[in-house]
Amino acid sequence: MAGQFPEGFIWGTATAAHQVEGGNTASDFWPLEMAANSIFAEPSGDACDHYHLYDSDIGLLKRLGFGAYRFSIEWARIQPEEKFFSGAALDHYRRVLGSCLTHGIVPIVTFHHFTSPLWFTRDGGWADAACVDRFARYCERSAKALGDLIGYACTINEANLPMMVTRYTELARRGPYRMSKRVAEVAAALGADPARFAPFLFSDANRTTPNFIAAHKKAAAAIKSTGCKAPVGITLATQDLHAAPGGEALTQKLDHDINGRFFEAVRGDDFLGVQTYSRTRIGEHGLLPVPPGAEVTQMGYEFFPEGLEATIRSAAKQSGCPILVTENGIGTEDDTRRIAYTERALQGVLRCLADGIDVRGYIHWSMLDNYEWREGYRPKFGLIAVDRATQLRTPKPSAFWLGAVAKRNALAPDA
Ligand code: BGC
Repeated sequence: MAGQFPEGFIWGTATAAHQVEGGNTASDFWPLEMAANSIFAEPSGDACDHYHLYDSDIGLLKRLGFGAYRFSIEWARIQPEEKFFSGAALDHYRRVLGSCLTHGIVPIVTFHHFTSPLWFTRDGGWADAACVDRFARYCERSAKALGDLIGYACTINEANLPMMVTRYTELARRGPYRMSKRVAEVAAALGADPARFAPFLFSDANRTTPNFIAAHKKAAAAIKSTGCKAPVGITLATQDLHAAPGGEALTQKLDHDINGRFFEAVRGDDFLGVQTYSRTRIGEHGLLPVPPGAEVTQMGYEFFPEGLEATIRSAAKQSGCPILVTENGIGTEDDTRRIAYTERALQGVLRCLADGIDVRGYIHWSMLDNYEWREGYRPKFGLIAVDRATQLRTPKPSAFWLGAVAKRNALAPDA
Protein backbone atom coordinates (compact mmCIF):
# COMPACT_ATOMS: atom_id res chain seq x y z
CA MET A 1 0.00 0.00 0.00
CA ALA A 2 1.22 3.49 -0.76
CA GLY A 3 2.80 5.16 2.26
CA GLN A 4 2.64 2.15 4.55
CA PHE A 5 3.58 2.60 8.24
CA PRO A 6 5.30 -0.15 10.25
CA GLU A 7 3.18 -2.76 12.01
CA GLY A 8 2.15 -1.64 15.48
CA PHE A 9 2.54 2.07 14.65
CA ILE A 10 0.48 4.04 17.19
CA TRP A 11 -2.26 6.34 15.89
CA GLY A 12 -3.93 8.66 18.31
CA THR A 13 -5.21 12.07 19.27
CA ALA A 14 -4.41 14.17 22.32
CA THR A 15 -5.95 16.50 24.89
CA ALA A 16 -4.86 17.99 28.21
CA ALA A 17 -7.00 18.00 31.35
CA HIS A 18 -7.26 21.75 31.83
CA GLN A 19 -8.11 22.33 28.18
CA VAL A 20 -11.04 19.92 28.04
CA GLU A 21 -12.28 18.78 31.47
CA GLY A 22 -13.75 22.03 32.81
CA GLY A 23 -13.95 23.35 36.38
CA ASN A 24 -10.28 23.01 37.29
CA THR A 25 -10.79 25.32 40.25
CA ALA A 26 -7.89 24.18 42.46
CA SER A 27 -5.32 24.91 39.73
CA ASP A 28 -2.98 27.87 39.50
CA PHE A 29 -4.38 28.88 36.10
CA TRP A 30 -7.92 29.30 37.40
CA PRO A 31 -7.29 32.56 39.33
CA LEU A 32 -5.06 33.84 36.50
CA GLU A 33 -7.92 33.32 34.05
CA MET A 34 -10.58 34.76 36.36
CA ALA A 35 -8.61 37.90 37.30
CA ALA A 36 -9.94 41.25 36.14
CA ASN A 37 -7.80 42.33 33.21
CA SER A 38 -6.56 38.77 32.78
CA ILE A 39 -3.79 37.88 30.33
CA PHE A 40 -6.12 35.09 29.16
CA ALA A 41 -8.64 36.01 26.45
CA GLU A 42 -11.37 34.20 28.42
CA PRO A 43 -11.56 31.69 31.28
CA SER A 44 -11.57 27.92 30.64
CA GLY A 45 -14.86 27.53 32.58
CA ASP A 46 -16.65 24.28 31.78
CA ALA A 47 -14.29 23.65 28.83
CA CYS A 48 -15.62 20.63 26.87
CA ASP A 49 -16.99 18.96 30.02
CA HIS A 50 -14.76 16.00 29.14
CA TYR A 51 -14.62 15.25 32.88
CA HIS A 52 -18.12 13.84 32.44
CA LEU A 53 -18.18 13.06 28.72
CA TYR A 54 -14.89 11.10 28.54
CA ASP A 55 -16.51 7.74 27.85
CA SER A 56 -18.49 8.84 24.79
CA ASP A 57 -15.46 10.85 23.57
CA ILE A 58 -13.21 7.80 23.81
CA GLY A 59 -15.87 5.61 22.13
CA LEU A 60 -16.03 8.12 19.29
CA LEU A 61 -12.24 7.98 18.84
CA LYS A 62 -12.46 4.22 18.48
CA ARG A 63 -15.26 4.42 15.93
CA LEU A 64 -13.23 6.92 13.92
CA GLY A 65 -10.37 4.39 13.70
CA PHE A 66 -7.84 5.56 16.29
CA GLY A 67 -5.91 3.18 18.52
CA ALA A 68 -4.53 5.52 21.19
CA TYR A 69 -5.56 8.50 23.29
CA ARG A 70 -3.12 10.85 24.99
CA PHE A 71 -4.60 12.81 27.89
CA SER A 72 -3.36 14.30 31.14
CA ILE A 73 -4.33 13.59 34.69
CA GLU A 74 -4.76 16.79 36.69
CA TRP A 75 -2.44 17.26 39.64
CA ALA A 76 -4.71 19.99 41.07
CA ARG A 77 -7.61 17.51 41.26
CA ILE A 78 -5.55 14.62 42.59
CA GLN A 79 -3.72 16.72 45.21
CA PRO A 80 -5.77 19.88 45.71
CA GLU A 81 -3.93 20.56 48.97
CA GLU A 82 -0.42 19.48 49.85
CA LYS A 83 -1.77 17.31 52.67
CA PHE A 84 -4.61 15.74 50.70
CA PHE A 85 -4.64 13.22 47.88
CA SER A 86 -8.14 12.71 46.52
CA GLY A 87 -9.09 9.06 46.22
CA ALA A 88 -12.20 10.14 44.32
CA ALA A 89 -10.11 11.96 41.68
CA LEU A 90 -7.82 8.95 41.29
CA ASP A 91 -10.90 6.71 40.95
CA HIS A 92 -12.16 9.03 38.23
CA TYR A 93 -8.94 8.61 36.24
CA ARG A 94 -9.10 4.83 36.77
CA ARG A 95 -12.49 4.96 35.10
CA VAL A 96 -11.06 7.02 32.21
CA LEU A 97 -8.25 4.49 31.77
CA GLY A 98 -10.76 1.66 32.02
CA SER A 99 -12.87 3.29 29.32
CA CYS A 100 -9.81 3.42 27.02
CA LEU A 101 -9.07 -0.25 27.57
CA THR A 102 -12.70 -1.28 27.14
CA HIS A 103 -12.77 0.54 23.81
CA GLY A 104 -9.46 -0.96 22.73
CA ILE A 105 -7.59 2.35 22.98
CA VAL A 106 -4.02 2.56 24.35
CA PRO A 107 -3.96 5.24 27.08
CA ILE A 108 -0.97 7.59 26.94
CA VAL A 109 -0.95 9.52 30.19
CA THR A 110 0.71 12.87 30.82
CA PHE A 111 1.28 13.62 34.51
CA HIS A 112 1.78 17.38 34.09
CA HIS A 113 0.41 19.49 31.27
CA PHE A 114 1.07 23.14 32.21
CA THR A 115 -1.30 23.43 35.20
CA SER A 116 -0.31 22.76 38.83
CA PRO A 117 -2.19 22.97 42.11
CA LEU A 118 -2.43 26.55 43.36
CA TRP A 119 -0.86 25.61 46.73
CA PHE A 120 2.24 24.41 44.88
CA THR A 121 2.63 27.53 42.73
CA ARG A 122 2.06 29.88 45.66
CA ASP A 123 4.73 28.12 47.62
CA GLY A 124 7.59 28.56 45.17
CA GLY A 125 6.19 26.45 42.32
CA TRP A 126 8.77 25.26 39.81
CA ALA A 127 11.35 27.81 40.96
CA ASP A 128 11.79 26.14 44.36
CA ALA A 129 13.98 23.04 44.48
CA ALA A 130 11.24 21.42 46.63
CA CYS A 131 9.26 20.98 43.39
CA VAL A 132 11.35 17.92 42.53
CA ASP A 133 10.18 15.92 45.55
CA ARG A 134 6.67 17.35 45.41
CA PHE A 135 6.19 16.36 41.79
CA ALA A 136 7.75 12.91 42.28
CA ARG A 137 5.46 12.28 45.27
CA TYR A 138 2.36 13.12 43.22
CA CYS A 139 3.57 10.92 40.35
CA GLU A 140 4.29 8.02 42.67
CA ARG A 141 0.86 8.21 44.34
CA SER A 142 -0.85 8.42 40.96
CA ALA A 143 1.17 5.61 39.39
CA LYS A 144 0.42 3.39 42.40
CA ALA A 145 -3.29 3.93 41.83
CA LEU A 146 -3.31 3.91 38.02
CA GLY A 147 -0.05 2.45 36.74
CA ASP A 148 -1.34 -1.03 35.87
CA LEU A 149 -3.69 0.51 33.27
CA ILE A 150 -1.30 3.03 31.66
CA GLY A 151 0.10 2.31 28.17
CA TYR A 152 2.71 5.08 27.93
CA ALA A 153 3.61 7.65 30.59
CA CYS A 154 4.77 11.21 29.89
CA THR A 155 6.08 13.03 32.98
CA ILE A 156 6.10 16.72 31.98
CA ASN A 157 4.56 18.19 28.83
CA GLU A 158 6.89 20.50 26.92
CA ALA A 159 9.40 20.89 29.72
CA ASN A 160 11.41 23.17 27.44
CA LEU A 161 8.57 25.55 26.57
CA PRO A 162 9.29 27.96 29.46
CA MET A 163 12.88 28.16 28.17
CA MET A 164 11.60 28.96 24.68
CA VAL A 165 9.28 31.65 26.05
CA THR A 166 12.00 33.07 28.31
CA ARG A 167 14.61 33.28 25.53
CA TYR A 168 12.17 34.75 23.01
CA THR A 169 10.98 37.33 25.56
CA GLU A 170 14.55 38.25 26.45
CA LEU A 171 15.33 38.76 22.77
CA ALA A 172 12.23 40.89 22.19
CA ARG A 173 12.82 43.02 25.28
CA ARG A 174 16.59 42.95 24.92
CA GLY A 175 17.02 42.24 28.60
CA PRO A 176 16.76 39.60 31.29
CA TYR A 177 13.51 37.79 32.10
CA ARG A 178 10.88 39.67 34.13
CA MET A 179 7.61 38.14 35.28
CA SER A 180 4.56 39.59 33.52
CA LYS A 181 3.21 42.47 35.62
CA ARG A 182 -0.30 41.09 35.49
CA VAL A 183 0.75 37.62 36.70
CA ALA A 184 2.57 39.32 39.58
CA GLU A 185 -0.56 41.32 40.39
CA VAL A 186 -2.67 38.15 40.58
CA ALA A 187 -0.07 36.56 42.85
CA ALA A 188 -0.18 39.58 45.17
CA ALA A 189 -4.00 39.56 45.17
CA LEU A 190 -3.86 35.89 46.25
CA GLY A 191 -1.65 36.90 49.15
CA ALA A 192 1.37 35.17 47.60
CA ASP A 193 4.85 36.61 47.28
CA PRO A 194 5.13 37.42 43.53
CA ALA A 195 8.84 36.61 43.66
CA ARG A 196 7.98 33.04 44.72
CA PHE A 197 4.89 32.57 42.54
CA ALA A 198 6.16 30.36 39.71
CA PRO A 199 3.52 28.80 37.44
CA PHE A 200 5.03 26.48 34.85
CA LEU A 201 4.43 28.61 31.75
CA PHE A 202 5.20 32.00 33.28
CA SER A 203 8.31 31.07 35.21
CA ASP A 204 11.85 32.29 34.64
CA ALA A 205 13.24 29.23 32.87
CA ASN A 206 16.81 30.24 33.75
CA ARG A 207 15.79 29.22 37.28
CA THR A 208 13.19 26.53 36.62
CA THR A 209 14.78 24.46 33.85
CA PRO A 210 17.23 22.56 36.09
CA ASN A 211 14.24 21.77 38.32
CA PHE A 212 12.16 20.47 35.38
CA ILE A 213 14.95 18.12 34.38
CA ALA A 214 15.52 16.89 37.94
CA ALA A 215 11.76 16.52 38.48
CA HIS A 216 11.40 14.50 35.29
CA LYS A 217 14.16 12.11 36.31
CA LYS A 218 12.89 11.64 39.84
CA ALA A 219 9.29 11.25 38.66
CA ALA A 220 10.26 8.68 36.01
CA ALA A 221 12.06 6.62 38.68
CA ALA A 222 9.10 7.02 41.05
CA ILE A 223 6.62 5.82 38.40
CA LYS A 224 8.76 2.79 37.64
CA SER A 225 9.24 2.05 41.35
CA THR A 226 5.49 1.36 41.64
CA GLY A 227 5.78 -1.57 39.23
CA CYS A 228 4.18 0.37 36.37
CA LYS A 229 5.39 -1.34 33.19
CA ALA A 230 4.62 1.53 30.80
CA PRO A 231 7.49 3.17 28.90
CA VAL A 232 8.20 6.53 30.55
CA GLY A 233 9.38 9.69 28.77
CA ILE A 234 9.08 13.44 28.62
CA THR A 235 7.59 15.57 25.82
CA LEU A 236 9.28 18.62 24.31
CA ALA A 237 8.12 21.60 22.25
CA THR A 238 10.48 20.87 19.40
CA GLN A 239 10.38 24.02 17.30
CA ASP A 240 12.08 23.79 13.95
CA LEU A 241 14.57 26.66 14.13
CA HIS A 242 15.85 28.01 10.80
CA ALA A 243 18.79 30.39 10.44
CA ALA A 244 18.29 33.21 7.96
CA PRO A 245 21.52 34.64 6.51
CA GLY A 246 23.42 36.25 9.40
CA GLY A 247 21.38 34.35 12.01
CA GLU A 248 23.57 31.24 12.18
CA ALA A 249 25.28 31.96 15.52
CA LEU A 250 22.08 33.02 17.30
CA THR A 251 20.20 30.02 15.91
CA GLN A 252 22.85 27.65 17.15
CA LYS A 253 22.74 29.18 20.62
CA LEU A 254 18.95 29.15 20.81
CA ASP A 255 18.78 25.61 19.46
CA HIS A 256 21.13 24.44 22.17
CA ASP A 257 19.27 26.26 24.98
CA ILE A 258 15.76 25.33 23.83
CA ASN A 259 16.29 21.86 22.37
CA GLY A 260 19.84 20.51 22.62
CA ARG A 261 20.29 20.61 26.37
CA PHE A 262 17.01 18.73 26.81
CA PHE A 263 17.92 16.11 24.19
CA GLU A 264 21.13 15.49 26.13
CA ALA A 265 19.29 15.32 29.45
CA VAL A 266 16.84 12.61 28.32
CA ARG A 267 19.38 10.18 26.85
CA GLY A 268 18.54 6.67 27.99
CA ASP A 269 14.80 7.36 28.45
CA ASP A 270 12.29 4.83 27.09
CA PHE A 271 11.07 7.33 24.49
CA LEU A 272 10.95 11.03 23.71
CA GLY A 273 7.75 12.88 22.83
CA VAL A 274 8.22 15.30 19.93
CA GLN A 275 5.69 18.15 19.54
CA THR A 276 6.06 20.36 16.50
CA TYR A 277 3.70 22.88 14.95
CA SER A 278 5.78 25.16 12.73
CA ARG A 279 9.19 26.67 12.16
CA THR A 280 10.78 29.83 13.47
CA ARG A 281 13.20 31.86 11.36
CA ILE A 282 16.02 33.59 13.15
CA GLY A 283 18.08 36.55 11.99
CA GLU A 284 21.20 38.14 13.44
CA HIS A 285 19.38 39.88 16.31
CA GLY A 286 16.26 37.86 16.88
CA LEU A 287 13.17 36.14 15.55
CA LEU A 288 12.01 37.07 12.06
CA PRO A 289 8.39 37.48 11.01
CA VAL A 290 6.63 34.90 8.85
CA PRO A 291 7.93 35.33 5.26
CA PRO A 292 5.78 37.60 3.12
CA GLY A 293 3.05 35.70 1.30
CA ALA A 294 3.35 32.58 3.47
CA GLU A 295 0.16 30.98 4.75
CA VAL A 296 -0.43 31.78 8.43
CA THR A 297 -2.40 29.66 10.92
CA GLN A 298 -4.82 30.97 13.55
CA MET A 299 -1.94 31.06 16.03
CA GLY A 300 0.04 33.41 13.77
CA TYR A 301 2.53 30.63 12.92
CA GLU A 302 3.69 29.86 9.43
CA PHE A 303 1.90 26.87 7.82
CA PHE A 304 4.97 24.63 7.72
CA PRO A 305 4.19 20.91 8.14
CA GLU A 306 7.72 19.92 7.08
CA GLY A 307 8.94 21.14 10.48
CA LEU A 308 7.98 17.79 11.99
CA GLU A 309 10.38 15.80 9.83
CA ALA A 310 13.26 18.12 10.75
CA THR A 311 12.57 17.93 14.48
CA ILE A 312 12.12 14.15 14.52
CA ARG A 313 15.50 13.83 12.82
CA SER A 314 17.35 16.09 15.22
CA ALA A 315 15.56 14.78 18.34
CA ALA A 316 16.33 11.16 17.41
CA LYS A 317 19.95 11.92 16.56
CA GLN A 318 20.72 14.01 19.63
CA SER A 319 18.75 12.07 22.25
CA GLY A 320 19.22 8.54 20.92
CA CYS A 321 15.66 7.82 22.12
CA PRO A 322 12.83 6.17 20.20
CA ILE A 323 10.48 8.96 19.10
CA LEU A 324 6.74 9.23 19.68
CA VAL A 325 5.10 12.21 18.00
CA THR A 326 2.96 13.23 20.96
CA GLU A 327 1.57 16.41 19.33
CA ASN A 328 1.31 17.85 15.84
CA GLY A 329 -1.54 19.86 14.40
CA ILE A 330 -2.83 23.20 13.24
CA GLY A 331 -5.19 25.88 14.47
CA THR A 332 -7.53 26.64 11.57
CA GLU A 333 -11.19 27.20 10.74
CA ASP A 334 -10.54 25.62 7.34
CA ASP A 335 -10.57 21.87 7.87
CA THR A 336 -9.23 21.19 4.36
CA ARG A 337 -6.00 22.89 5.48
CA ARG A 338 -5.85 20.54 8.52
CA ILE A 339 -5.93 17.56 6.16
CA ALA A 340 -3.32 19.11 3.86
CA TYR A 341 -1.09 19.94 6.84
CA THR A 342 -1.36 16.51 8.40
CA GLU A 343 -0.78 14.68 5.14
CA ARG A 344 2.43 16.61 4.51
CA ALA A 345 3.58 16.12 8.10
CA LEU A 346 2.96 12.35 7.79
CA GLN A 347 4.91 12.21 4.54
CA GLY A 348 7.82 13.59 6.57
CA VAL A 349 7.30 10.88 9.20
CA LEU A 350 7.43 8.26 6.43
CA ARG A 351 10.74 9.69 5.17
CA CYS A 352 12.16 9.43 8.71
CA LEU A 353 10.97 5.81 8.97
CA ALA A 354 12.47 5.01 5.54
CA ASP A 355 15.80 6.28 6.87
CA GLY A 356 15.58 3.84 9.77
CA ILE A 357 14.56 6.32 12.49
CA ASP A 358 12.60 4.62 15.26
CA VAL A 359 9.30 6.54 15.24
CA ARG A 360 6.71 4.68 17.31
CA GLY A 361 3.57 6.64 16.55
CA TYR A 362 1.73 9.81 15.64
CA ILE A 363 -0.66 11.54 18.04
CA HIS A 364 -2.58 14.45 16.54
CA TRP A 365 -3.31 17.60 18.54
CA SER A 366 -6.15 17.74 19.22
CA MET A 367 -9.10 15.43 19.58
CA LEU A 368 -11.48 18.32 20.38
CA ASP A 369 -11.72 22.03 19.71
CA ASN A 370 -10.64 23.07 23.18
CA TYR A 371 -9.25 25.78 25.45
CA GLU A 372 -6.17 27.18 23.79
CA TRP A 373 -4.71 28.79 26.94
CA ARG A 374 -4.19 32.54 26.58
CA GLU A 375 -6.01 32.53 23.25
CA GLY A 376 -9.20 31.13 24.78
CA TYR A 377 -11.54 29.11 22.56
CA ARG A 378 -10.87 30.97 19.29
CA PRO A 379 -8.19 28.73 17.70
CA LYS A 380 -9.60 25.49 16.38
CA PHE A 381 -7.13 22.60 16.69
CA GLY A 382 -9.75 19.86 16.93
CA LEU A 383 -10.50 16.96 14.65
CA ILE A 384 -13.89 17.09 16.37
CA ALA A 385 -15.90 20.30 16.72
CA VAL A 386 -17.56 21.08 20.04
CA ASP A 387 -20.68 23.17 20.48
CA ARG A 388 -19.89 24.55 23.93
CA ALA A 389 -23.51 25.52 24.62
CA THR A 390 -24.78 21.95 24.16
CA GLN A 391 -21.42 20.08 24.36
CA LEU A 392 -22.41 18.33 21.14
CA ARG A 393 -19.45 16.74 19.31
CA THR A 394 -19.27 16.80 15.51
CA PRO A 395 -16.34 15.05 13.83
CA LYS A 396 -14.86 17.12 11.00
CA PRO A 397 -13.83 15.60 7.65
CA SER A 398 -10.23 15.58 8.97
CA ALA A 399 -11.30 13.21 11.77
CA PHE A 400 -12.70 10.71 9.26
CA TRP A 401 -9.68 11.19 7.01
CA LEU A 402 -7.07 10.63 9.75
CA GLY A 403 -9.13 7.81 11.27
CA ALA A 404 -9.08 6.05 7.89
CA VAL A 405 -5.30 6.54 7.63
CA ALA A 406 -5.01 5.00 11.10
CA LYS A 407 -7.23 2.03 10.20
CA ARG A 408 -5.28 1.08 7.09
CA ASN A 409 -1.94 2.09 8.69
CA ALA A 410 -1.07 3.78 5.42
CA LEU A 411 -1.34 7.27 4.03
CA ALA A 412 -3.13 6.41 0.80
CA PRO A 413 -5.09 3.44 -0.46
CA ASP A 414 -3.49 1.52 -3.34
CA ALA A 415 -3.38 3.61 -6.48
C1 BGC B 1 0.55 22.36 24.01
C2 BGC B 1 -0.97 22.29 23.90
C3 BGC B 1 -1.47 23.40 23.00
C4 BGC B 1 -0.87 23.20 21.63
C5 BGC B 1 -1.36 24.14 20.55
C6 BGC B 1 1.25 22.71 22.73
O1 BGC B 1 2.25 23.63 23.02
O2 BGC B 1 1.06 21.20 24.59
O3 BGC B 1 -1.49 22.37 25.21
O4 BGC B 1 -2.85 23.48 22.95
O5 BGC B 1 0.53 23.32 21.72
O6 BGC B 1 -0.93 25.44 20.75
